[in-house]
Amino acid sequence: MLLPSNPKANYLAHKEEIDAAIDRVLDSGWFILGKEVESFEVEFANYIGAKHAVGAASGTDALELALRACDVGPGDEVITVSHTAVATVAAIDLCGAAPVLVDILPESFTLDPALLEGAITPRTKAILPVHLYGHPAAMDDVADIAAKHGLRVIEDCAQSHGAKWKGKTTGTWGDIGAFSFYPTKNLGALGDGGAVVTDDAELAERCRLVREYGWKERYVSAIAGMNTRLDEVQAAILRVKLKHLDVENELRKSLAGIYDEKLPATELGLPIPPADGEHVYHQYVVRSAARNELRQYLKENEIGSLIHYPVPVHRQPAYADLRCASSMAQTEKAVQEILSLPIYPELSEEAVRGVAEAVVGFFGDR
Ligand SMILES: Cc1ncc(COP(=O)(O)O)c(C=O)c1O
Repeated sequence: MLLPSNPKANYLAHKEEIDAAIDRVLDSGWFILGKEVESFEVEFANYIGAKHAVGAASGTDALELALRACDVGPGDEVITVSHTAVATVAAIDLCGAAPVLVDILPESFTLDPALLEGAITPRTKAILPVHLYGHPAAMDDVADIAAKHGLRVIEDCAQSHGAKWKGKTTGTWGDIGAFSFYPTKNLGALGDGGAVVTDDAELAERCRLVREYGWKERYVSAIAGMNTRLDEVQAAILRVKLKHLDVENELRKSLAGIYDEKLPATELGLPIPPADGEHVYHQYVVRSAARNELRQYLKENEIGSLIHYPVPVHRQPAYADLRCASSMAQTEKAVQEILSLPIYPELSEEAVRGVAEAVVGFFGDR
């Protein structure tokens, strides 16, 4: 079965370097928050083009750190989308704040900025756009509205390592950007990991404090905190993989180009890259009214695919009482139609052509 993503293939592509990095950490005898984490933070901040990066234990934690550093808590509202990984909303909830959900733009699957002003209340503290699938959200509009209303912007960059909107890398538009290094991400650890990036030294310092019990000095909590430390083994692995990220994003883009060319655009909605930005194809998501049948057909042809995400947050039992500040028509339509086709840097061009042929065959047979 052709897998929709394949973190093992990425490990094998860099096995020698990664194994050496792991050995280095094991030999050092230092396993949590050490030299590897410090070096990774500098290298990742440089890559993103931010002044500071702070490692965390996961992307969800990175979002929570970012929110808490921005002083988001009980009584506050944070506007985000329903069409996202549930982690986005879980992080807001974990801070004690109220997530407020708005609909997406159908062409980019990202937050529709035109809906923001209708969602803002005196309690609104922040806007949390998600750069879903590797497609950047419309950050200039989000940033303008946030500035007008004095709101914080926290970017969910879990799927957008290296993506750009109008020349600026995702994670550098808002006050803070939060990244996940879950193994399947464009930059993936071999376990859990995450990081925040920011240009604001004060926010970075607050993230460092909150990350480890609010400690300014060991065993003394200056502020209330949590434990969300990045470990040395993951940081060492991420340092190896970061060096290859640009090349691997280019490989994703060229595989997406083959899909763009070979897939039957008359039958499918194909991803629309931003006119003035860079999509990094964390996922290659097509749309079809016959999505379920197509998925089944691909499965019968040994091709794996996934739905990101089948149940929007406002339809999840745990979050059914959240306030939706707009119609969710585009979200509801998208979840019926979307399908993520296999894409990862080690996937061969031939395999991508094979997937495209199977899709063409599905529509030809109907
Ligand atoms: C959009 C989005 N936000 C947040 C997260 C949370 O990241 P993690 O799984 O590392 O906690 C993920 C990844 O699962 C994600 O895709």
